[in-house]
Amino acid sequence: MNNSLKLSIVFLSILLFSCSKKNDWQTTVTSPDENVKVEFKLTEKGGPIYLVTFKNKEVIKTSTLGGFDLKDMVSLKDNFEIVKATTSDFNEIWEMPWGEQTKVENKYKELKIELQEKIDLKRKLTIVFRVYNDGLGFRYEFPEQENFSEVIITDENTQFNLTGNHTVWWTPGDWDLYEHLYTTSKFTEIDALAKANHPNLSKTHIPENAVNTPVTMKTDEGIYLNFHEASLVDYSAMTLKIDKENLAMTSELVGSENNDYKVKRAVPFHTPWRTLQIAEKAGDLIESRLILNLNEPNKIGDISWFKPTKYTGIWWELHLGKSTWGMASGKHGATTENAKAFIDFSAKNNIGAVLVEGWNNGWDPNEGGFDYVTSYPDYDLKEVVRYGKEKGVEIIMHHETFGNVENYIKQQDTAYALMQSLGIHTVKSGYVGKLMPIGEYHHGQFMVNHYNNSVIKAAKYQVAINAHEPIKDTGLRRTYPNTIAREGLRGQEFNAWATDGGNPPEHLPIVAFTAMLAGPIDYTPGIFDIKFDKWKKDNQVNTTIAQQLALYVVIYSPIQMAADLIENYEGNLAFQFIKDVGVDWQTTKVLNGEIGDFVTIARKERNTDNWFVGGITDENAREMDLKFDFLSPDVSYEAIIYEDGKEAHWNENPTAINIRKIEINNQSALKVKLAPGGGFAISIIKK
Ligand code: NOJ
Ligand code: CA
Repeated sequence: MNNSLKLSIVFLSILLFSCSKKNDWQTTVTSPDENVKVEFKLTEKGGPIYLVTFKNKEVIKTSTLGGFDLKDMVSLKDNFEIVKATTSDFNEIWEMPWGEQTKVENKYKELKIELQEKIDLKRKLTIVFRVYNDGLGFRYEFPEQENFSEVIITDENTQFNLTGNHTVWWTPGDWDLYEHLYTTSKFTEIDALAKANHPNLSKTHIPENAVNTPVTMKTDEGIYLNFHEASLVDYSAMTLKIDKENLAMTSELVGSENNDYKVKRAVPFHTPWRTLQIAEKAGDLIESRLILNLNEPNKIGDISWFKPTKYTGIWWELHLGKSTWGMASGKHGATTENAKAFIDFSAKNNIGAVLVEGWNNGWDPNEGGFDYVTSYPDYDLKEVVRYGKEKGVEIIMHHETFGNVENYIKQQDTAYALMQSLGIHTVKSGYVGKLMPIGEYHHGQFMVNHYNNSVIKAAKYQVAINAHEPIKDTGLRRTYPNTIAREGLRGQEFNAWATDGGNPPEHLPIVAFTAMLAGPIDYTPGIFDIKFDKWKKDNQVNTTIAQQLALYVVIYSPIQMAADLIENYEGNLAFQFIKDVGVDWQTTKVLNGEIGDFVTIARKERNTDNWFVGGITDENAREMDLKFDFLSPDVSYEAIIYEDGKEAHWNENPTAINIRKIEINNQSALKVKLAPGGGFAISIIKK
């Protein structure tokens, strides 16, 4: 967080105009490069509206802002006047303690519009826009004021009026989980309700035709748009309600069965940022740091106790049915012996950590629920941790709650204190199933606060969190860098047991341009035994083995699992890539990509001159011409290329892989062939 250079020039403009003509915008702000422009005015009724253009073409047509419906109070909607409008410039460079790159430019122009009602309560509302070269964010601020001390929001009503019937990559606006497959359709074909009752998702709650964010679109003119939110704190998550007739979306906040409102806050407070990324190339969406920039700087200080790492674990075997979480089956996975085998394997292979699931009491019925300090009798936690330390391997703790958040909250301090006493710095938490307190949803204000409070509490014990069944990422890792990764999408686990065929080859080429725009993902790649017929005849991974390697580069996370059973790695030459690949990056470059089709990403490892490249395709075979002009000039590198074998195919021949070594420099060019459902990975090591 050092090295930050702040340059803030403030212009004050008191606005005195009236808006008689239709397109007479009252105030405007553009991005530093002037490509993105936001216009703002009040309607004749005094309601705030805005419009967004990109390179002089509308991307958001005139839309309403806010129009808050409140409980027991008249809506905060019309009758406003502008008290003051202020524009300012901001420019800083901040450093990511770990991440996709080291330095991040945070450069925007801000427009702050202070409004006040002309009548009755004379309530005040401020709207702030921050406009970047790659998009914008805006939020509502409720300043301290006399007649307004508590806000109980039943609806927020932020509108995004689209300019056409765009192509959309969407998942339904489910209040309880994000584990749906993406659908690609025209905006007018979005049908979220059709996604309820999925055989492998019993706990969905999709109250209306809305989508979850991040949601990505492509216009007929080839502009890419992504809608999301940043810095979701003490508020409900936003879904976007679909209005097909008017090609419009309206924010719809997640609710709770326990309240007849969506959000309750004391004044002063502000909402999360509503964000819009705008790009001419799909890959630019991935390179954008807009969401992070809209979050506040680090509030927890030193995070050097968390080290990005690869990890193995007692995990995939549980999903395959080789072993179980609980002991009742007689094939308990989390034994001291098994954990030590994973530690030995990791120590041998440049892997820093081991996840152990099913170590604690409570997995089987009649055990009285979860307890986060008591091990099963065949698992000696202290001994496993000691053994790991001896070998330089850290244990990753596991806290599954089965949705019983009340029980977890009571034990969190004790559980984190145990971790601290053992020197364990990472926990994977889980929230499978319906929640206790009954009536709450995973994405409502109550749970948003639980997830955030957990991260804040954990930081005090030097614990970092990888949450499964989480709240979506909104860039809070900038503020709380112990927020390291999350699930929040259909992960690899679905390939082990889903009855709908698992994740299709197009899944990850969509994820890279949707869920991944929000932040790091614990997808758990690296399955080498693609068909795993020994365990499950009817399930498989729907990619080639080369694509599994590529995912270490394509899907970003500071913790990357080598998820397969150890025995499937032993003796396999392709494993060398997992051994070599970095997990913490100085630079990230998207070399090519189209949403749902293919994507190639190159990342430079921190503190070395090594680069790693990963490319993946959907069900279609492709040929790619790669250039390496991102490499340092006048340096010679050794590249090991892991590409799909000649006859490779995600279903017919998924393990055919070709490994070759070549010398390259920044002038080199390379042709690679990707099989259907395939990919490639390249490690580029400075000689
Ligand atoms: C669901 C998580 O996504 C998975 O990774 C974990 O193994 C199970 N819950 C059990 O906690
Ligand atoms: Ca899950």
